[in-house]
Amino acid sequence: MKGNTDPNNIEDVKTIVEEQSSTNTTSIQKISLEQIPTEGLILDIGGGGEGLVSRIMGAKVCALDIRLSEIREAQIHGPPANWFVGDGQSLCFQTSTFDVITLWFSLGYMSDWAIKERVLKEAHRVLQKDGKVSILASNIPESCERLIFWGHFTLPDGTVSQTGYGVKGGQNQTLEQLVNLLEKTGFKIQSQEDNDAWFAIQAIKI
Ligand SMILES: C[S@@+](CC[C@H](N)C(=O)[O-])C[C@H]1O[C@@H](n2cnc3c(N)ncnc32)[C@H](O)[C@@H]1O
Repeated sequence: MKGNTDPNNIEDVKTIVEEQSSTNTTSIQKISLEQIPTEGLILDIGGGGEGLVSRIMGAKVCALDIRLSEIREAQIHGPPANWFVGDGQSLCFQTSTFDVITLWFSLGYMSDWAIKERVLKEAHRVLQKDGKVSILASNIPESCERLIFWGHFTLPDGTVSQTGYGVKGGQNQTLEQLVNLLEKTGFKIQSQEDNDAWFAIQAIKI
């Protein structure tokens, strides 16, 4: 995700931007994260990296990531989550297992829309009836080759996590496009919030 660059080092950031002239870089987006209201199990797809959901919801979380290195990075924070290396397109869980599925800044790493669709179909399969999907995602314009989204996250316990998520551009990943895909894959939208650089969607399995 971040290679050898340090997202907290401004010189590293400048180097990335200068080397890649068609890179779009967002300003730092301040995002307050809340507890996820559920008594049941949560599946966090693309749950490595900062491991935000695991750090907030702990042992209720099954955190799945396609890259072991990203899981190792999230484990540094020591949350008592359950860790899985796997592909969200083909989940190793039984049908109707989870109450909530989270995709927090991970759909942008699945740059092909066919992959996003397969992941949402699998999410739908492993969710219980009336289960919810929670999406946080950056707006990724058609026009750039690469996007670096800067997030300054405040967790419910006051911990701050600041990071840069670097993704392939040209995806046209917008709130509207993801709402369409969620409806196509069997979800009903409960709420949506567009914040320009990023958006949030909550949807329910129907
Ligand atoms: C921005 S990173 C981590 C975001 C994470 N939710 C957090 O809290 O920081 C997105 C992750 O999605 C993972 N990913 C990409 N494609 C995936 C797939 N098909 N299945 C599972 N994980 C995937 C990447 O390996 C990467 O670790």
